[in-house]
Amino acid sequence: MTTISRITADDRPAWDALWQAYITFYESEVPADVSNTTFERILAHKDLHGALARDAAGTPIGLVHWLTHPATWTTGSYCYLEDLFVDPGSRGSGAGRALIDHVKGWAKLYGASKVYWLTADDNATARALYDKVAVSTGFVHYEIEL
Ligand SMILES: CC(C)(COP(=O)(O)OP(=O)(O)OC[C@H]1O[C@@H](n2cnc3c(N)ncnc32)[C@H](O)[C@@H]1OP(=O)(O)O)[C@@H](O)C(=O)NCCC(=O)NCCS
Repeated sequence: MTTISRITADDRPAWDALWQAYITFYESEVPADVSNTTFERILAHKDLHGALARDAAGTPIGLVHWLTHPATWTTGSYCYLEDLFVDPGSRGSGAGRALIDHVKGWAKLYGASKVYWLTADDNATARALYDKVAVSTGFVHYEIEL
């Protein structure tokens, strides 16, 4: 059975391993000072929020990070799910779905009117899950690096 809990300071080693695996999945790199700041901001639970999934033995197997922001189309806020990762050896057991559900429940209590996220068009594995729990908007993502 998968359990989800908010990230605490004791989770740093487990978070490091999952975070690094997620970054590697994206064939990317994040400087150590950015990872340190990200973890601190998650612990502060103000701008950034995070939770870990654990298997029946209590071993951390996945992570999710999210944030909220005001928006022009609501008097309230939206919740953006930024990162989602489940350890390859634990996939297909419902952890990804449980992590999304956790953010959904948190955002509802917070008062956000929607949870949304981005994914690569060709991420078929993730989209197999997303198509079951959310609606694809068809929007295309653009950005300008500064
Ligand atoms: C996407 C990801 C988080 C899914 O995690 P997961 O724990 O395997 O997902 P779940 O077990 O909750 O899967 C839920 C559903 O997705 C589908 N699914 C998951 N993995 C699948 C796969 N490899 N092939 C086909 N369908 C799959 C299943 O149909 C499952 O539905 P079911 O519960 O009705 O059987 C995980 O594959 C992952 O970490 N991928 C690499 C990182 C990534 O892509 N993150 C998302 C970036 S936007």
